[in-house]
Amino acid sequence: MALMKKTWKDTLTVISALIAVYSSWKYYQAARDNDTPPVKKGIEQLIGNTPLVLIKSLSKATGAEIYAKMELCNPGGSAKDRVAYNVIKEAEEKGILVRGEPGWVFEGTSGSTGISIALLCNALGYRAHISLPDDTSNEKLALLESLGATVNKVKPASIVDPNQYVNAAKRASEELIQRGGKGIFADQFENEANWRIHYGTTGPEIFKQMGGKLDGFVAGCGTGGTIAGVSKFLKERISARVVLADPQGSGFFNRINYGVMYDKVEKEGTRRRHQVDTMVEGVGLNRITRNFEVGEYCVDESIRVPDTQAVKMAKFLSVQDGLFVGSSTAINAVAAVKLAKDLGPGCRIVLIACDSGSRHLSKFWKIAKNVDRDITLNEVME
Ligand SMILES: Cc1ncc(COP(=O)(O)O)c(C=O)c1O
Repeated sequence: MALMKKTWKDTLTVISALIAVYSSWKYYQAARDNDTPPVKKGIEQLIGNTPLVLIKSLSKATGAEIYAKMELCNPGGSAKDRVAYNVIKEAEEKGILVRGEPGWVFEGTSGSTGISIALLCNALGYRAHISLPDDTSNEKLALLESLGATVNKVKPASIVDPNQYVNAAKRASEELIQRGGKGIFADQFENEANWRIHYGTTGPEIFKQMGGKLDGFVAGCGTGGTIAGVSKFLKERISARVVLADPQGSGFFNRINYGVMYDKVEKEGTRRRHQVDTMVEGVGLNRITRNFEVGEYCVDESIRVPDTQAVKMAKFLSVQDGLFVGSSTAINAVAAVKLAKDLGPGCRIVLIACDSGSRHLSKFWKIAKNVDRDITLNEVME
């Protein structure tokens, strides 16, 4: 009798152990299938691997599949996190910046890159010094100041002006180095760490997320890093059409389509704002940068998007899809719709969703919020 009791007890112990192993395995499988993100050891490890989301409204209206690569999901709110981290990492690899020792990162930026640099400097133990045009949106300025960056506001000016924000940043970094300090000028326009990180991460992510099947890619061009890196990666593998969405006043449209870097606002006396005459922030330029140059051969076409269309598209996406985006994403969406009509039903297009509308409340969205919420896509594209 005692022996039977013991056998039962042993059997029950074995069964309980098997149940425990089975439940752990099921739990592991569920976690794996749900893609539960693993624990990260620092904010910098949250950069990249951004989601891809179907823009239902635009897809339904065009018969295409139009997806947004959600770069606004990076911890610093834009694709510039990737660039800032790569620039710092490359400086560390060269021993110019050393973790645990004082060091500065200088940059000239109209906003997003500065925010990413300021965030990462805090995370990695450095200090950020950001020069920017004094008409940059208040949200970006407030963010930079809240992150503790040293902010140097300068008048919007042409790149040949020594006080233009990129030149101002370079000078500030040189002055620090002359005084014996440690620091780098991030130089996002010319620094090839920029396109390389998009070639090494953003491009492969899009390719994988789309199962290698896409017909079109749409991005704007500020430094050119995103469009160069992603399109170079894609073109080496597939024949997707690459479209550069350009705001009014920028020279890329003519450069890509006609080989001349010129916009008619360059004409004496017609330009209202230095640099690029648009409400759209972050994209559009009137000079060729190294990062643009690297990928220019991959860009098939440029589509010019006027501010009025960008504003209407931003409101449309917000109301129809709950996609609350900034101005450069809105121009990408307008260009994606035009491309979808060109490529025809069933085509698969990815556009870059650069940053959130919350970065643009006081300028772009101040106008976009007044657009009728019942606006149709036809009215957006008029
Ligand atoms: C909001 C926003 N969108 C798009 C871009 C353009 O990206 P890229 O510099 O890689 O051309 C930038 C660049 O600063 C930006 O700030």
